[in-house]
Amino acid sequence: MTDATFDWLYPERIQQLSKRHWTPVRVAKKAASFLAAENGKSILDIGSGVGKFSLIGAHYFPEATFFGIEQRSELHHYALAAKEFTRIENAEFMHGNFTQIDFAQFDHFYFYNAFFENIDSKDRIDHLIEYSTSLYHYYSRYLYKELNDRPRGTRLVTYHSLEDEVPPSYQIVEASRDFLLKMWVKK
Ligand SMILES: C[S@@+](CC[C@H](N)C(=O)[O-])C[C@H]1O[C@@H](n2cnc3c(N)ncnc32)[C@H](O)[C@@H]1O
Repeated sequence: MTDATFDWLYPERIQQLSKRHWTPVRVAKKAASFLAAENGKSILDIGSGVGKFSLIGAHYFPEATFFGIEQRSELHHYALAAKEFTRIENAEFMHGNFTQIDFAQFDHFYFYNAFFENIDSKDRIDHLIEYSTSLYHYYSRYLYKELNDRPRGTRLVTYHSLEDEVPPSYQIVEASRDFLLKMWVKK
């Protein structure tokens, strides 16, 4: 599966955002293999966009269930449409802010720098929501606390993260050669 073939699931505007905003197929496979190492786990993508990470993970790792939470209703809608088209059953998509969900429902987490849009004015997905530095700090602190409250053995994968949301209780166990993709385990 290439990025071009996967992105074909979406309208052209969404395809054009892919390189900058959606996880590449090879990264999604590597991240998902770490998070779904044990069967039967529930994995949450925090800021799931059009569902690319979750759908690829769910396709390659059918014994795990992939969940996504996305604040933009348009992107959530495209995630549901892609799930229906691909008939993938072990992926679920929720619409809302990640601060509204109960982290205790999930075993492991994926995070592709969802809050960075608040501090980077280039290449934004849209101009329909408010962005601010204080929102970046609020979300990062909120996620830090939620991750810190998870039990030992919780796995986290970050991609392009500034690591403001990663508590020191998480240790890196593997990383890509360019250090953009990092696998962490809570000790
Ligand atoms: C870089 S994209 C990654 C999308 C997806 N995880 C992937 O890898 O293909 C980050 C997404 O996080 C979403 N997001 C940002 N802040 C959020 C929040 N507070 N709650 C829910 N979603 C959020 C954005 O709308 C965007 O779709």
